[in-house]
Amino acid sequence: MHVENLHKKFGQLHVLKGVSLSARDGEVIAIIGGSGSGKSTLLRCINCLENPTSGIIRVNGEEIKLKADSHGHTIPADRRQIERIRSKLGMVFQNFNLWSHMTLIENVIEVPVHVLGVKRDVAIREAEKLLARVGLAEKRDVYPAYLSGGQQQRAAIARALAINPRVMLFDEPTSALDPELVGEVLKVIGDLAREGRTMVLVTHEMKFAREVATHVVYLCNGLVEEEGPPEQIFGAPKSERLKQFIRNIG
Ligand SMILES: Nc1ncnc2c1ncn2[C@@H]1O[C@H](COP(=O)(O)OP(=O)(O)O)[C@@H](O)[C@H]1O
Ligand SMILES: [Mg+2]
Repeated sequence: MHVENLHKKFGQLHVLKGVSLSARDGEVIAIIGGSGSGKSTLLRCINCLENPTSGIIRVNGEEIKLKADSHGHTIPADRRQIERIRSKLGMVFQNFNLWSHMTLIENVIEVPVHVLGVKRDVAIREAEKLLARVGLAEKRDVYPAYLSGGQQQRAAIARALAINPRVMLFDEPTSALDPELVGEVLKVIGDLAREGRTMVLVTHEMKFAREVATHVVYLCNGLVEEEGPPEQIFGAPKSERLKQFIRNIG
């Protein structure tokens, strides 16, 4: 996964001002930064949920093709390509975003069966394995509303894994959780990192980022202010803004 000189404007608001980022196979990129610095917008551009104003995004070796519409807004040039790229990316949001009218097992098989054309019984077997892996085997037929936030987020991770993504994208996966539920979700994400899953993780959990990340990117006002290995970013930050950010959050 590779991002080069990415810009995103919402009207007059220039949110991303030339961000570059790469995640090679097996790398865990942690993105940190204050509220409103553009972290979610960056992930949403990578996942084609937002159209970048300019810049290059490459996923799985394929560059996202963009074009200008009649108003001069950038839009995808090839819808099929967007589908293909999305099928390589597993996305986990802050607010879980499980489908509330579906049980956990239905949530996990939905995209494999209805988008990727996997046979239902094959998808179910795979989904059962994934739910077991995140500690939710016995909850397969339960609706999300009956689960804790930590359980819902673990189910959302299982659902994201069900497409066998090349890269996992996490946008503050523990920010909406009660403090006592954060650990169980970080454990699942940490296991994935240690298995060598490629991931991009937006997080405020600095201790966790320091443990699992191979590379840390500090985003400030839509620009990469400083980046490097976790020991450098947390242990010997250079930028004054980063020093202050770490002081305030830690
Ligand atoms: N769809 C949108 N329309 C207009 N402004 C947006 C939209 N999404 C985000 N923004 C603005 O872009 C800025 C960055 O937001 P965001 O990427 O969510 O930051 P972060 O995730 O780092 O907190 C904020 O000022 C936010 O209000
Ligand atoms: Mg955000």
